[in-house]
Amino acid sequence: MAQEHRVAKVGEIEAESGKQFKIGDLEIAVWNNEGKFYATDAICTHAWVSLIDGYVEDGCVECPLHAGRFELATGKAQGAPVFVDLKTYPLRIDGDDIVIETP
Ligand code: FES
Repeated sequence: MAQEHRVAKVGEIEAESGKQFKIGDLEIAVWNNEGKFYATDAICTHAWVSLIDGYVEDGCVECPLHAGRFELATGKAQGAPVFVDLKTYPLRIDGDDIVIETP
């Protein structure tokens, strides 16, 4: 059954960056790109590396290791070297709180 988690306040995640949260077995990144928030898996699908220090721009995050890019809204891999999409999670803003939903 889906579960909701209040992971952070809106002001705690700076623009063009993300913050990583461990929820159960999941490593989830919450991203702020131009004031819009997204939740995706935090680990790159190419190798076991966190995307959290990646470059956030134009609705995408670029992996710090080999520069693979993923679209934040859909998790879609944007091409070599990444071909497997990131999982994404529903996110809503409730007052000041960022709330994400996990399966
Ligand atoms: S580990 Fe992310 S692109 Fe290679």
